[in-house]
Amino acid sequence: MACFIHKTTKFLEQLAAKNILVYQAMSLYYKKLIREEIALADIKSTDRILCIGGGPCPFSGILLHEYTGAHVTIVDNDYCCVCIARQLISKLGYTESIEVLYGDGNDISPKDYTVIHMAVQVNPIQQVFCSLKRKCPYGARILVRVPKKGLKKFYSADDFSLFRNCCKKAVHNWRNIDSTALFIVA
Ligand SMILES: C[S@@+](CC[C@H](N)C(=O)[O-])C[C@H]1O[C@@H](n2cnc3c(N)ncnc32)[C@H](O)[C@@H]1O
Repeated sequence: MACFIHKTTKFLEQLAAKNILVYQAMSLYYKKLIREEIALADIKSTDRILCIGGGPCPFSGILLHEYTGAHVTIVDNDYCCVCIARQLISKLGYTESIEVLYGDGNDISPKDYTVIHMAVQVNPIQQVFCSLKRKCPYGARILVRVPKKGLKKFYSADDFSLFRNCCKKAVHNWRNIDSTALFIVA
């Protein structure tokens, strides 16, 4: 089932990356979510944002840039997604402000970033989170999306309970995502 959800999400995102109407319709899902996450982490234009798991149509990274003006780096461990996302970023005219890298969240160095954003589909989510938290600079904010209780098993075999120890969270209504947890690295 988790595999089915991941494949369906990627398929829909591939359509969105190639069709402006699908893109506009799907981006409606993310707009309020992103505004709430920006407020939660107090993201400013001077921040440097790292998004782990962008998919073929990295709505979160694009909207984070559009709403704050901050530079965004998106990382995905699926090369096909990276290629489609790069074409979209170029089509939108954002190549100076948004870069898309092929790599795994576990291996990436987060030392140059002040905000790290993790998609709900990142796998293994606990391991990637702990690795980033260990390596990122003092004061960096990490945002982790946590799915609704009944949906957790569809996203990761990992336990999401670690994310209860966050310093603050934003709760999202009417979404598969229950909340976004904020961690500030001390
Ligand atoms: C389909 S996207 C959904 C994100 C959504 N497009 C957004 O903008 O919020 C999730 C992506 O996370 C990627 N992913 C999962 N685990 C990862 C990891 N450990 N490192 C990097 N990317 C990962 C998957 O390849 C997938 O493309």
